[in-house]
Amino acid sequence: MDQPQPTVLLVDDEVGTLELMGRLLEAQGFQVHLANSSRDAIRLIADRSFDAVVSDVMFEGSEEGGEVLAACRSLRPDAISILMTGYPRIEGAVNAIKDGAIDYLQKPVDPIVLSATIQRAVRERRMVRRTEDLTFNDMVDILSGLVSQTIERVDPYTAGHGERTRRYCRQIATDLGLDLECTQRLELAAIAHDYGKIYLEDLSFLTKKGPLTPGEYKMVQRHPEVGAERLGGHTQLEDVCRYVAEHHEKWDGTGYPLRLKGSQISPAGRILCVVEVFDSLTTKRSYKQPWTLDKTIDFFESQSGRSFEPEVLDTFLRLLERHGEEWLDAPRRDLELAGVIEAQPAAG
Ligand SMILES: [Fe+2]
Repeated sequence: MDQPQPTVLLVDDEVGTLELMGRLLEAQGFQVHLANSSRDAIRLIADRSFDAVVSDVMFEGSEEGGEVLAACRSLRPDAISILMTGYPRIEGAVNAIKDGAIDYLQKPVDPIVLSATIQRAVRERRMVRRTEDLTFNDMVDILSGLVSQTIERVDPYTAGHGERTRRYCRQIATDLGLDLECTQRLELAAIAHDYGKIYLEDLSFLTKKGPLTPGEYKMVQRHPEVGAERLGGHTQLEDVCRYVAEHHEKWDGTGYPLRLKGSQISPAGRILCVVEVFDSLTTKRSYKQPWTLDKTIDFFESQSGRSFEPEVLDTFLRLLERHGEEWLDAPRRDLELAGVIEAQPAAG
């Protein structure tokens, strides 16, 4: 069976070198992503998985390659990491290997050597993975997929909503410096936040075209608590259930079901509140068209200290500047893939 192209994240602050190496690795059959700062690299690592992360050590005089390596180790333990440096020191190499890098290459790096090093490591890693037991991450991914499919079955317009919410929550949490344990629990809550919907007595209004009646609205407002209740039971899920229960609360106390206010909402819950609203507004639903990027940004800017906590909102708006177009287009692609809407003909 054909193996998928290995994905490589290449990180270097010298843009010319970065682009050249990227092209050379692409010519060798890799799918390449570029980052020209350690900060961008860490964002990308938080956002998606890579087979390999190849990073420079020095960034404008500061030794930030170790931070990329640390992010890789904690967020993507399955990825292989390689460091490159123009100032090789034996202790640097020893420390990098101790910290989990598989190699430490001297710049200028020969792309053929780099390509062979990555290919070999990826092949070995894949062989090991095939014979290994399921990892915790595998289980989370598999079960998350099942939970998402269950929710999407009762409301097909939410196709991909859970997974996108998980991805954006993880990025905000990473930028805000939330610890890994809290971030992982937030990711679980992001996947399962609408789980309570499947237990509503009447499911037909979830896909109804017009506005909800007051009675229907009251019923749908029960879903955060119902979801938390139904998910609960395992001691490890206590925080996850709290975030699920909070996902429609608002910073100024005008949300539901408990009208919690300010610090009564957990930090992770505040992130989930922002992302949930964003993805809902920018997705086509049975009763509405998706919002445009300008309208969405105007709305969020007007909600600082009102619906949303200012620090979380600022972090989110910074991410939106960078990823806005892509995040706005993501629901359409997921709805097309799920067959809920027809594929749009390609432009041009
Ligand atoms: Fe919800």
